[in-house]
Amino acid sequence: MYVVDVVTLSPEAVDRALQEGVVGRARQRQLVRLRLWDLREFSRDPHRKVDDAPFGSGRGMVLMAPPVVAAAEHAIEARQGGPPPRVLITAANGRLFRQETARELARHPGGLVVVCGRYEGIDARVAPLLGAEEVSIGDYVLSGGEAAALVVVDAVVRLLPGVLGDPESAGEESFERGAALTRGGLEFPQYTRPRRFRGLEVPEVLLSGDHGAIARWRRLQSLRLTLERRPELLDAAGLSQEERALVEQ
Ligand code: ADE
Repeated sequence: MYVVDVVTLSPEAVDRALQEGVVGRARQRQLVRLRLWDLREFSRDPHRKVDDAPFGSGRGMVLMAPPVVAAAEHAIEARQGGPPPRVLITAANGRLFRQETARELARHPGGLVVVCGRYEGIDARVAPLLGAEEVSIGDYVLSGGEAAALVVVDAVVRLLPGVLGDPESAGEESFERGAALTRGGLEFPQYTRPRRFRGLEVPEVLLSGDHGAIARWRRLQSLRLTLERRPELLDAAGLSQEERALVEQ
């Protein structure tokens, strides 16, 4: 079974948040095993201290290397062998976590260890000692890494085999579709009942039953939305001239 270890100062909060929805159901169905490790348990300090002021002065507190390394190594040892897991540390200055990252992690036979960063950072020796990769979930600063860890775990677990009933549905959305927007486009807009709401109608084509026309309409909407909101994704997707003309018309 795919194992995810999370090292955190808030194991209850993380556990609680991951009891809901798709991840919660995957846990119940034993498609994934999630283990929470309380960083403070690995402190050598009588007051269970896990942070200290940064060398060279500066604001805030830095997570100390010894408890973090001890917690992550304990989590890895608790696996009792098997292929080594990928180890991630959530950090505002990490490499951007993308759908491609989630896909790689979901395929990794050794599973995943996520260390939640906190405070102003984490001692820089932790990553090389653990062979860990620092990842950021986006260009904003969170007060703690727990929210980022929830994002990472959700994005990975939903891709594990059997988690989403329909194998198509993980692949159909934004960032997961085929054709020219592979690994890049935004999802087309969706509608459901009622057909008319406060004067706004569902686009006629979606009621037509013409699957070809619906697919073409959705593709165009996807391209337009991507051009409007995330033009850099279109550049990365390498659209054909024809597609570009279609979008820009
Ligand atoms: N910790 C603080 N900000 C973060 C971010 N954007 N991503 C991951 N971890 C973080």
